[in-house]
Amino acid sequence: MKRAIYPGSFDPVTFGHIDVIGRALRLFDEVIVAVAPSEGKSPLFPMAERLDLIRASVPGETRLSVKQFDGLLVDFVKEEKAAAVIRGLRAVSDFEFEFQMALMNRRLAPDVETIFLMPKEDYSYISSRIVKEVARLGGDVSGVVPAPVAEALRHKFGKAR
Ligand code: COA
Repeated sequence: MKRAIYPGSFDPVTFGHIDVIGRALRLFDEVIVAVAPSEGKSPLFPMAERLDLIRASVPGETRLSVKQFDGLLVDFVKEEKAAAVIRGLRAVSDFEFEFQMALMNRRLAPDVETIFLMPKEDYSYISSRIVKEVARLGGDVSGVVPAPVAEALRHKFGKAR
């Protein structure tokens, strides 16, 4: 039974993340989406809402669970007896930081592998930060985030927009 952890801030989850989750589920028996508090990024959505939005966006997938984690990612990976960490790579610009994280995690836990998955090209430009900015300014984000997220963003930034 192979389990993978897909960590991130997911503030909020986008179609890019959902695409990576689907790919991870094809490779692993179980996938845990692990949501980090990421207080340093001043998240728009509180933790409980980020968890709920991911669950509502991937309904009925019994091999997927969504959990909060605090502390070091590698400690959570060991607690959950997972074999690998999944990260999405959208463009070369993602690579440098991802490489640093993967190697630091390897230093901390040599037996935890990081696997990079590329989301569908259509989603390679999407980031949570851009989605939030567009939604805040009244743009339509319905094609880049799941319906529950689009609704939550409308609610957050006011229906008038
Ligand atoms: N302010 C707000 N949001 C920002 C931002 C900023 N300055 N910079 C980037 N973001 C958003 C982007 O929109 C991006 O969204 P995406 O999810 O669509 O990619 C997201 O944050 C990317 O940030 P990134 O840091 O690449 O990844 P992440 O926040 O999704 O996940 C963790 C990072 C949680 C995996 C990592 O911080 C971690 O493992 N933390 C646990 C503690 C730990 O073990 N640390 C040591 C790691 S070596």
